[in-house]
Amino acid sequence: MNEKPRTPNQPLYGIFTAVPPRYDLINHIITLGMDIRWRRLAAKACLEGQPKRALDLACGTGDLALNLAIYSEEGTEINGLDYSPPMLERAREKAKRARLAQKIKFIYGEVTSLPFPDDHLDCVGISFAFRNLTYKNPICTSHLAEVLRVLRKDGRYVIVESSQPESQFVKRLFHFYLRAFVTPVGVLLSGNRSAYTYLAQSAADFFTSEKIKAMLITAGFKTVGYRELFYGAAGIHIAIK
Ligand SMILES: C[S@@+](CC[C@H](N)C(=O)[O-])C[C@H]1O[C@@H](n2cnc3c(N)ncnc32)[C@H](O)[C@@H]1O
Repeated sequence: MNEKPRTPNQPLYGIFTAVPPRYDLINHIITLGMDIRWRRLAAKACLEGQPKRALDLACGTGDLALNLAIYSEEGTEINGLDYSPPMLERAREKAKRARLAQKIKFIYGEVTSLPFPDDHLDCVGISFAFRNLTYKNPICTSHLAEVLRVLRKDGRYVIVESSQPESQFVKRLFHFYLRAFVTPVGVLLSGNRSAYTYLAQSAADFFTSEKIKAMLITAGFKTVGYRELFYGAAGIHIAIK
């Protein structure tokens, strides 16, 4: 695919092509640094199946792909895919700086038409982009169908994402933190009000781990397990085709 910027008819394209200069740092600040460990856990969950071919879906600046490259066995094929050229540019720079550029192929593409044959990949991982693809997004169903298409039988879809705590007390604290910390700090550091208002609102409204599991089973995955992180404010789901 070529990398000519385009404007897909999707609600979030504008947000993800206006990448603030300190994008990664802002992510670390608003998650109190926990995103770093959570992506590492997700990479390890991807690698438990000892994949020969893996994809970081909606890879952004490439942190999950970098973790896959660090922890995988020599010879594992690692791909990262995103539709935002500025995100991909940062991902490639980071891979180069980490001397991992040879191990990762970053691809410009769209999650609803992945450039892989049927049953090709052993693992698809996604970090902090599943909410974007499923919450009030018309491509929700087609994205899940496409992941199922490219995964081989028994291949895994590993999702690390914010979630909705079941406990009313934790939920109230979480929503307060989104309103009082994530939105103002994100807006202040990035200068992008709509991006960080969307982030906090969609996270406050997003699904519980059980609902995410039900959605994956309805889409056609054979089994789905999950582990809650930080009292249910986030979680890792592992869905098997
Ligand atoms: C919140 S960022 C997460 C990035 C990265 N995975 C991480 O862990 O930080 C969401 C990413 O999803 C990408 N994205 C959203 N919709 C997409 C689509 N339909 N096709 C490809 N990429 C998409 C955006 O460009 C953005 O890089």
